Amino acid sequence: MPRQGLLGIDTLTRPEIEQILDRARDFQPRPDESFRKFNILTGRMVVNLFFEASTRTRTSFEIAAKHLGADAVSITAQASSVSKGESLVDTLNTLAAMRPDAIVMRHASSGAPHFLQRYLETPIINAGDGTHEHPTQALLDARTILDRGAKLEGLRVAIIGDIAHSRVARSNVYLLSKFAADIVLCGPASLLPKELAQIATGVTLTTDMNEAIRDADVIMMLRVQLERQHEAAFPASEYFRFYGLRPEHLRLAKPDLIVMHPGPINRGREISSEVADSQRSVILNQVENGISVRMAVLERVLAGEKTNGTAH
Ligand code: CP
Repeated sequence: MPRQGLLGIDTLTRPEIEQILDRARDFQPRPDESFRKFNILTGRMVVNLFFEASTRTRTSFEIAAKHLGADAVSITAQASSVSKGESLVDTLNTLAAMRPDAIVMRHASSGAPHFLQRYLETPIINAGDGTHEHPTQALLDARTILDRGAKLEGLRVAIIGDIAHSRVARSNVYLLSKFAADIVLCGPASLLPKELAQIATGVTLTTDMNEAIRDADVIMMLRVQLERQHEAAFPASEYFRFYGLRPEHLRLAKPDLIVMHPGPINRGREISSEVADSQRSVILNQVENGISVRMAVLERVLAGEKTNGTAH
């Protein structure tokens, strides 16, 4: 039986998510200590194949693999033979022929890893596909919320910004909905597709930022993804005025509200420096949890008996 990768949150069950989040906690370092190293994946090889830019995801997958004793190799689109005209399927088959134990992949096309997994026995871990899903981001976001002592059940989470182009929003909607959270999606109408209210239970939409923030336990701010917009969906000069998170918003919010952002943050566009650097911000906690959550995911995908991952 081929190993299972991780393509999205949509297809995970709640117990599977809980298992990953619980295991990630085991890998978290104690305060003021470094991450511990394990021999769980000694002899395993992970290939990181990134066709889009990344700081957090790529680095933390590489660090996570090394902390578990695996070897990790990272390849970017510019450094791959796709830049010489090789097809994506041929590139993946070429890498699979080198017998890695898993391929971590980011691609600008929604569904690219799902399509490729049909051709490969090597498990693929989705590190972000177009506007579709970014499963490990939603998992590390959930781990970060739980670390604050909150429960996901009944939590009110406002996700604010460029919802239309956000794989982070979609994966978080799938995850939070499985835990019966109350999810408010907020952004300019041109970046707030009505269909998203239908993909899971507990989702409401609003274009009014104050309404989204009122009674929220968690705010997740999103970057405006200009690279995915064919024409400007909202005037850049107006965006911060209407949808930028500023200190006055926090005065409306619950006293124990936390502010999250998957990064990269654009200060002065979707979030002010005062908020990003405030006590409410858990942005760097999210980054740190990226390592423990990805260790849990790599262990889930790779631990156990080694199998032959040949390409078809
Ligand atoms: N959050 C996130 O995916 O960041 P990177 O693009 O830096 O990986």
